[in-house]
Amino acid sequence: MKKIQIFDTTLRDGEQAPGASLSPEAKIRIARQLVKLGVDVLEPGFPISSPGEFAAVQQISREMQGIEICGFARSVREDIDSALKATQDAEKRRIHMFLSSSDIHLDFQLRKSREQVVEIARRMVAHAKQFVDRIEFSPMDATRTGEEFLHQVVEAVIAEGATIINIPDTVGYALPEEYGRLFTRVRQGVRGGNSVEYSAHCHNDLGLAVANSIAAIQAGVTQVEVTVNGIGERAGNCSLEELVMALETRKLTLGVETSIQLQEIYATSRMVRREMNFPIALNKPIVGRNAFQHEAGIHQDGLIKNRNTYEIMDPIQMGIPRKMIILGKHSGRHAIKHRLSQLSIVINDQQLEPLYEKFKVLADTQKIVTDAELVMLLDDPAHPS
Ligand code: KIV
Ligand code: ZN
Repeated sequence: MKKIQIFDTTLRDGEQAPGASLSPEAKIRIARQLVKLGVDVLEPGFPISSPGEFAAVQQISREMQGIEICGFARSVREDIDSALKATQDAEKRRIHMFLSSSDIHLDFQLRKSREQVVEIARRMVAHAKQFVDRIEFSPMDATRTGEEFLHQVVEAVIAEGATIINIPDTVGYALPEEYGRLFTRVRQGVRGGNSVEYSAHCHNDLGLAVANSIAAIQAGVTQVEVTVNGIGERAGNCSLEELVMALETRKLTLGVETSIQLQEIYATSRMVRREMNFPIALNKPIVGRNAFQHEAGIHQDGLIKNRNTYEIMDPIQMGIPRKMIILGKHSGRHAIKHRLSQLSIVINDQQLEPLYEKFKVLADTQKIVTDAELVMLLDDPAHPS
């Protein structure tokens, strides 16, 4: 199995989600949990952006062991120097710098020519290379950049010593096949293209971030940039838990593995939700409340007989407390009997029938029937079951 590096950017790109900002203390708490989760690379923030941010990156660099810390910077000398300083005590580190490459960014944001962009990228990589060996370079908005120019930028930064090339789908525009092909063509079309590592960084504007990351892996990419709960700008980044579980569930097909400790996934998701005060959609894959809950009678019946009838993953594996059956108006007799047995209440078929009738009346008036309500129906003296 080929190892895929999990690069976590919850504390940098994830924190850019509106309303999700974190105190330095909260960042440190989350970083500790991310180490426990087993991510390979941790991008703890943007050191130049504020003194608190610098301090958090510095403390995380000093404290976290067995993990590579990534200092984030624009392709600007002051940013790079600040990222170098903040990460200087890390056991293992890299500098990650970015510079826009698409015409729309060059014309309206940077107001620079293509020649100027190549020159800046070249100079800034050369500057960082004096102090650190591992340099990741991101041509921002790469998926909307003309291919020839993208190759020119990548070739220039490799020549100056960049060791990791990230191809960000900054605005979540790419389709899986074309995103995978982009990596293949960069690797084959750029001088030095075979001498570096490649990274995928996908945003979820079209709901394709996980699919695009998998396409990149299938094209040979060895690092994926993700956030817990898929948090990030706009519709967010590629979700760590979704991608990792896709790789795990389909590992025989994909031939890859990660070092993520699956049983820490749920605890990490809860912690990020709490610290960022950012709700998770009920139907979000893996960590949403409904992800492993079933209401339809036919599904419940199947699950009681064999979990694999309607589940492709075992939630226990990700540390998710199992409560797979939700009682509601679609539930059948089997599910009611099963839930009562989980509550150590055994009933016979004569008791079940009247209980089922009362259950259906109640379920018609509300969305779900709780365990307490079920037991109350069973005990209701006015309507003995
Ligand atoms: O989405 C993006 O382009 C980024 C880069 C700066 C890596 O977050
Ligand atoms: Zn991003």
